[in-house]
Amino acid sequence: MAHAADPPAPPPPHAPPDGAPAGDVRSRVSLRVNGVRHDLDLDHRVTLLDALREHLDLTGAKKGCDHGQCGACTVLVDGRRVNGCLLLAVTLDGCRVTTVEGLAAPDGTLHPLQRAFIEHDAFQCGYCTPGQLCSAVGALREAAAGHPSHVTPPAPQEAPAALTEAEIRERLSGNLCRCGAYPAIVRAVADAGADAAATRTGADVIA
Ligand code: FES
Ligand code: FES
Repeated sequence: MAHAADPPAPPPPHAPPDGAPAGDVRSRVSLRVNGVRHDLDLDHRVTLLDALREHLDLTGAKKGCDHGQCGACTVLVDGRRVNGCLLLAVTLDGCRVTTVEGLAAPDGTLHPLQRAFIEHDAFQCGYCTPGQLCSAVGALREAAAGHPSHVTPPAPQEAPAALTEAEIRERLSGNLCRCGAYPAIVRAVADAGADAAATRTGADVIA
């Protein structure tokens, strides 16, 4: 209970403007998604995943768990893979975002990973596949740049990591596939990983 002598409580951080409902704080956010600039007016609580799906109608990235456990929402931000459900869009003003819709070349030619997933039959329901694909692009970039994983043997710094089965499984361990298509996914990523073009995306061309 407040005492008569208590000082007034300070306003909460990021308080809404006078008269606005509690929690309703919005900002303008500019995102370059798959090479196209979008200026959005977003509630600060909107995640990147919801901004893509609910505001830009880009429904490739999926909402599996919505709390960073399954990887179905994986997209690339400034070239690095992220869980879209864990990032607030308002923190990404000015960033480049690539979703599964931006992997293919502008002329529609499928990305090497997309082709490999088809050739190796690396999916069943496909719900996790957009996240697997975006995560694989990020993983291949990280390996090529010499970023070690938990299973990478000691090597000269920044030497590209060899894409062994153990490496691929470890680097994609944040992406769950409930159907158990993992063996085919590993084969597809190993196959595409031999193609240097697999670290590039269609969105990179038009970004
Ligand atoms: S929906 Fe983001 S990790 Fe599961
Ligand atoms: S293909 Fe991944 S969850 Fe079914």
